[in-house]
This record gives sequence, structure tokens and C-alpha cells, in this order.
Amino acid sequence: MITEVVKVDCHEREPLRQAAQILQSGGLVAFPTETVYGLGANAISPDAVSGIFQAKGRPSNNPLIVHIATVDQAKDLVQQWPNAAERLAQQFWPGPLTLVLEKKAIIPDIVTAGGSTVALRIPSHPIALALLQESGLPLAAPSANRSQAISPTTARHVLNGLNGRIPMILDGGPTSGGLESTVLNLTTAPPQLLRPGLITPSEIEAVIGPIERSSQRSEESMPLPSPGMLSRHYAPRAPLLLTDGNGMSLVTLHLGQDHKVGWLTFENREPQASLIPVVMPKGAGEYAARLYAALHELDQNEVDVIIVENPPSGEAWQAIHDRLKRASEPLPEKG
Ligand code: TXA
Ligand code: MG
Repeated sequence: MITEVVKVDCHEREPLRQAAQILQSGGLVAFPTETVYGLGANAISPDAVSGIFQAKGRPSNNPLIVHIATVDQAKDLVQQWPNAAERLAQQFWPGPLTLVLEKKAIIPDIVTAGGSTVALRIPSHPIALALLQESGLPLAAPSANRSQAISPTTARHVLNGLNGRIPMILDGGPTSGGLESTVLNLTTAPPQLLRPGLITPSEIEAVIGPIERSSQRSEESMPLPSPGMLSRHYAPRAPLLLTDGNGMSLVTLHLGQDHKVGWLTFENREPQASLIPVVMPKGAGEYAARLYAALHELDQNEVDVIIVENPPSGEAWQAIHDRLKRASEPLPEKG
């Protein structure tokens, strides 16, 4: 299959019409959202959705987020629309917050990994919204990368992972947010944070009151609330080492072992033959927007190891720490 990459802006309807047609006939289209690029399929069609799992090599026990264009569309897909959902949608949609609610039967099991709940969000990227409107479909869309790899923040990243596996990528330039949406389960009391993201727990609590903030679940607490919480995820090819300090001594150690080293650091550092320093922004929002692109670049440069200077603590950095921690953990046994 040839993968077509089409530059879009929202004034040009033709690429959007073409993409909508692919989706309506059961095909896959990668498109930008304000967080990362998504790989979309008609969420109501089990066949279309199975294409996502094939293209990504995604395990079928990991459920997908369904993207919609309006709150009314969201209400049509769930059993109940609780007050908390209404208030959060008013405040944060369109935007990077995903709400988990009890699903209606119209959502196929393959979308929810057989579970009774569905994850929903209205993305704010104009191209994502235009595509949702043009197709008229709810779109199941995970991040548009091979399973376990780093999420794509440019069309080029999508192409690197999925070339030949999908028919079309809509290129809307780099995404502004850079990390995946916050996932919040509204079927529990109190609501539970399943994945930290660009919207912080405090911002959520300001709207609906206290939530369960720890996104760590114990091994026993199956069934899965969110396999995106599985330890290794969002990972570059090279091992990633998170340091407590600035990483200088680890960098020296690995250079001494003839390794090619990538270094995410906050200071200006001189590149050397075997050292690629990437100077990261000091603000959390800018850091988030840059992180995956930096990891993609280091993967492209085929470094042997990536050393990451520990970012500051504080709630604004929670999602960044979460992703770095996952990227740094060893691969689980195959299963
Ligand atoms: O920002 C984002 O959320 C991006 C863009 C494309 O919207 N999408 C994304 O999708 O990150 P994905 O599939 O890579 O991550 C979806 C996360 C996973 O952690 C999954 O386990 C969780 O949402 N999830 C999906 N449905 C769920 C459900 N019914 N219950 C609990 N967790 C769910
Ligand atoms: Mg993903």
C-alpha cells in the first residue's frame, strides 16, 4: 500500500473530503490533534477498527479513544451523561481531556477491549474537528505509531512508523501539545485519573471536586482500567536513563564505553562526535511539546543510549515525568 502524505489547512476541503471518503469506506487516516497525531477509523465499524490494531501491531486488550465533534454526539454513545461529564466538557472540550463512561451497545467491543466503558474526547485541532465533521463519524483513534513506540508529533514521525501500512496521512504540521490527553474515569467514585496529561488534576478538581489522583494501579486490581498504564510504553528504541542530577557522569561513563549518546539537558552543551545534546525548554508546556520530537530525533540518529536530565517536580511536570518513567522502564516479557 502506498501511504499518501497530504498537507492540509482547513480552507482546502478537497483533502478532507478524500480523507472522509477513506474513513467512510472503512479505511484508516492519520490526522493531527492538539496532543499527538491519531490513527483514525470509523468507531462504529468493527472491521474498520480492526485495521487500526493491525496497522499498529497493538494488543487487542488495549482499548481506544473515540473522538467526536460535539457533546451531543458524545451523549449518544454513552448510557449516562453525568453532571461531572457535562461540567468537564463545558470547561475542557474541545481539548486534551478524555472521559471514560459506560458505553452504549452501538460501540463495538473491539473499541473497548471488551469492556463496558468507552473513552471519549473532542479534540481541539481544527483539522481533527474538520475531519470529524466532514466524515460525520465518531473516530476511534489511538496515537498513530507502532505499538509501544513514541507517539508522533509530526506527519514525518507517522510516516516513519506506518509507511506502507495506511493509505493517508493528513499533515497539519507539528502538534502544539506534544503529550497525549489526560484520561479520567468517571465511572468510579471518586473519579480516577488513569493517565496524566496536559490537563492537570488540579484543573479537573477545580471543576468537579476531589479525584483519585494516583494513576498507578496495583497488579491485583485487574481488569485493566487503562493499559496505557502498562509500564513500558511511549518508548524510544534506545534505552532511556533518567538521572537524578544533570546526567554528566553517566554521559561520561557511556562515552567511555564507545557508546553514541543522546542527552536531554537544560544547559547548552557542546556536541561531540559521539554525543548529541538536545537542549530542552525550561517551561513544562514547551518541554512537553518538544519531548517526543527530541526522542524521535535521537532514534533517527541511532544513539545507543539516551540520558535524560531530571526535569523539575511539580504538578505541571507530572505527565512529563510519567512518560519519561515509562520510556525508561525495561521491556515486559512478551505476551
Ligand atoms: O491525546 C490522545 O489521547 C491521543 C490523540 C490521538 O487523541 N490518543 C491516544 O490514544 O493517546 P492511545 O490509544 O494511544 O491511548 C488511549 C489511552 C490508553 O491508555 C487506553 O488504555 C486508555 O486511553 N483507554 C481507552 N479506552 C479506555 C477505557 N474504556 N477505559 C480505560 N482506559 C481507556
Ligand atoms: Mg499510544
